[in-house]
Amino acid sequence: MALTVEEMIITLGQQLADAQLFYGHGSDNPHDEAAELVFFAAGLKHEQASDCYRQALDETVILKVRALVERRIQERLPAAYLTRRMWFAGHEFYVDERVLVPRSPIAELIHAQFEPWLKPSQVRRVLDIGTGSGCIAIACALAFPAALVDAADISPDALSVTRINIDRHQLDGRVRAVQSDVFSQLADDRYDLIVSNPPYVSHAEMDDLPAEYLREPELGLRAGADGLDVVRRILAEAENHLQSQGLLVVEVGDSEQALADAYPSVPFLWLEFEQGGGGVFVLTAAQLIEHRGALAAGAIR
Ligand SMILES: C[S@@+](CC[C@H](N)C(=O)[O-])C[C@H]1O[C@@H](n2cnc3c(N)ncnc32)[C@H](O)[C@@H]1O
Repeated sequence: MALTVEEMIITLGQQLADAQLFYGHGSDNPHDEAAELVFFAAGLKHEQASDCYRQALDETVILKVRALVERRIQERLPAAYLTRRMWFAGHEFYVDERVLVPRSPIAELIHAQFEPWLKPSQVRRVLDIGTGSGCIAIACALAFPAALVDAADISPDALSVTRINIDRHQLDGRVRAVQSDVFSQLADDRYDLIVSNPPYVSHAEMDDLPAEYLREPELGLRAGADGLDVVRRILAEAENHLQSQGLLVVEVGDSEQALADAYPSVPFLWLEFEQGGGGVFVLTAAQLIEHRGALAAGAIR
């Protein structure tokens, strides 16, 4: 008997729930993940969800989505690597195993054009360090239509995905993919906004990560003994790459306390998010200059 979209979502949601998977890559529960897989397999749009729940699914679609769920369970692959897509800040991005699955709470800041910390009309140049899929860089370019954006990553593999997304969003003229170890290839550039979701997982935390995270590139996650290897370098050098009214925004996730402890004199402003997530701080260019000594010392360990 033909199953409807709704019946298939309920059935597969239960199958996923029974498998005790981990959800941290775009959805936080088995039902939503089943819905994404069914919609993907059937070629349906989430915006039309209420119109298609009672629609009967073809046998080919049922076989396809059952195979996807099987892989999700057996291989512990995040669903986004099966569908090769993820939404971020309201935009769709291509993703595969070369990049982290987009999920940063920074999306909420982009929606707000980083107000009240920035004047949107003054944002002309943006840098995204550790761009991965390019989600933050591209969403910034779409939020600031007059801005030029540099999307930097150390990984050539990740940058191949960045370029796919720049192309898909037709932003070739405004978003530049740059291979750079933090600021190494951006020597003379100054930005109004530097934003980064760098790797920030400590060695010890890496050992405890659910299997789904181990499907992501290690370069996107692992960041030394205290998770701050890349962040320390961003903090030490950002001052030289910001305009005088510029802003630095960095996600450090669960390494928030380690960072606060490592730099007790630096006035990190930790942001709150309506849609969940945290561990994101802002510092102004003026604060980076004022605390230059502590930030430089923090990079030498
Ligand atoms: C946590 S992922 C974030 C990806 C993307 N910005 C996002 O939010 O989904 C971190 C990214 O930083 C890159 N990365 C790691 N070390 C780096 C370094 N030293 N310089 C530049 N990028 C680096 C990784 O290749 C990875 O793509």
